[in-house]
Amino acid sequence: MRPESRISAWTERLEGVLDFVLPPENESPERLHAAMRYAALGAGKRVRPLLVYAAGTALGASERLLDLPAAAVELVHAYSLVHDDLPAMDDDSLRRGRPTVHIAFDHATAILAGDALQTLAFDVIANTSLPALLRIEIVRSLAQASGSRGMCGGQSLDLAATGAKLELDALDRMHALKTGALIRSAVRIGAIVAGADQDALDRLDRYATALGLAFQIRDDILDVEGASEITGKTRGKDARQGKSTYATLLGLDVSRERLRELAATMQTALDGWDADCEPLACLARLTVERAR
Ligand code: IPE
Ligand code: IPE
Ligand code: MG
Ligand code: MG
Ligand code: MG
Repeated sequence: MRPESRISAWTERLEGVLDFVLPPENESPERLHAAMRYAALGAGKRVRPLLVYAAGTALGASERLLDLPAAAVELVHAYSLVHDDLPAMDDDSLRRGRPTVHIAFDHATAILAGDALQTLAFDVIANTSLPALLRIEIVRSLAQASGSRGMCGGQSLDLAATGAKLELDALDRMHALKTGALIRSAVRIGAIVAGADQDALDRLDRYATALGLAFQIRDDILDVEGASEITGKTRGKDARQGKSTYATLLGLDVSRERLRELAATMQTALDGWDADCEPLACLARLTVERAR
């Protein structure tokens, strides 16, 4: 099967898994459950769960064992978007082509929906049929990637850098934490499910580190030049808010050049590997070329 077809099959699979693990809207408290489903089931690209499937199957793991870990990573991501959009953070009103959760519902519900999506992620991992030691490894990876030394830390640096002028290494560090950490964890979780050895983990981490940075650089570029109807987000927000991004600090040309370098790094990380890595290569291409 072509890698593109495998990726779209995984996307469909994931929708079913998310639908299954999220509490139904008619279960009390209905408003909170409706907000959680609204946040998680929108038109997301599902890049992080796709990376779980791609990394896991590259090393021979079954899709069935990857389903719940993949959904868990997407739940953490969905929570991060709900909180990222809040007035106290980026104050955004449009996400995935529709009103953000705090606009469609209310601020308190958005905070609680984010909180509950995050804790649901860990519940989902605890409930997999994987051996207990692997479940703990996955919990550790996801917790570290989302906490103060990962995504939350990066979000804190992002807020502190708003209106400031960062040096390139500080910008890279912020991106590595706010976006890179969860992406690296997604790849690592797929590899953990597959029982990867250290060599495979190292190779995949070189790939994922480059992909994480590339993903946020592309996001920064799209904030400048992506049409709202395609990105599903408000255009030009980063510059208006004085955000420190690749595009605002270094310009579009330097950003695009950096994307090309990172594409080469991802390719090198996969070169000569005897794993089934076509979908990983395909996701690398999609990351640097994406229009949404
Ligand atoms: C947006 O993530 C936030 C970033 C980390 C750049 P995505 O671009 O993956 O958002 P969805 O899930 O596809 O909506
Ligand atoms: C968000 O980065 C990163 C996280 C949610 C952790 P952005 O603030 O650039 O993401 P968008 O552009 O709102 O999707
Ligand atoms: Mg932000
Ligand atoms: Mg934002
Ligand atoms: Mg952005």
